[in-house]
Amino acid sequence: MSVIFAIDGPAAAGKGTLAKRLEAHFQLAKLDTGLLYRATGYKVLASGGDPEDPQAAEDAARALNPAELDNPELRTDEAAQAASKVSAVPGVRAALLDFQRDFAENPPALADGSPAKGAILDGRDIGTTVCPNAQVKLFVTASTEIRAKRRFKELQERGLEAIYARVLDDMKERDARDSSRSASPLAAATDALVLDTSDMDADQAFAAALDFIVAKNLF
Ligand code: C5P
Repeated sequence: MSVIFAIDGPAAAGKGTLAKRLEAHFQLAKLDTGLLYRATGYKVLASGGDPEDPQAAEDAARALNPAELDNPELRTDEAAQAASKVSAVPGVRAALLDFQRDFAENPPALADGSPAKGAILDGRDIGTTVCPNAQVKLFVTASTEIRAKRRFKELQERGLEAIYARVLDDMKERDARDSSRSASPLAAATDALVLDTSDMDADQAFAAALDFIVAKNLF
């Protein structure tokens, strides 16, 4: 059985950056599960549907093809909002569950062809619902304002037009929807290390995560 790392938290808290560092350090296969929901939401929008229509959302999730996860359009805030809507549909979550669990239990080989030592999945409900038996659980968070500033900077760096107040409003709207939905809401698992990165840089967050993981003697 290989090791499973579950990294959850709200948008722009630093979980993607931390997951990448851990992926490289521990030679893990990584799955950004947000992309599955983004691709589902995007698919509904692209076909002219409403992401809040449960049937359209579930059909899109069931028809999802892993090749669709590479679409750069999935990085937009429009895709994020659609993702947050489709992700509240229980049928969508059920449709995406097997793929995530299969990835966690049978991680694909690394880019250089060597076998992965485990899997790292980042999302909202990995430690609570998708992989409740994960050996490592981290819940990465930060204040809403700090997260909105990080997202704003990221959008600007990618050359996308952004207005800070709008980014903050979108973030609040998405947080509220993700935390209040009845199907697998955003929540820290009781056995997760909660990392508040509001006053931490990427190196400090990585060091704190490493201390927690090394103490588990998994490798
Ligand atoms: O992490 P990311 O911002 O890409 O996620 C987009 C949206 O997908 C989130 O706002 C959330 O609604 C949904 N999501 C989820 N469960 C996950 C990962 C993402 O509901 N495991």
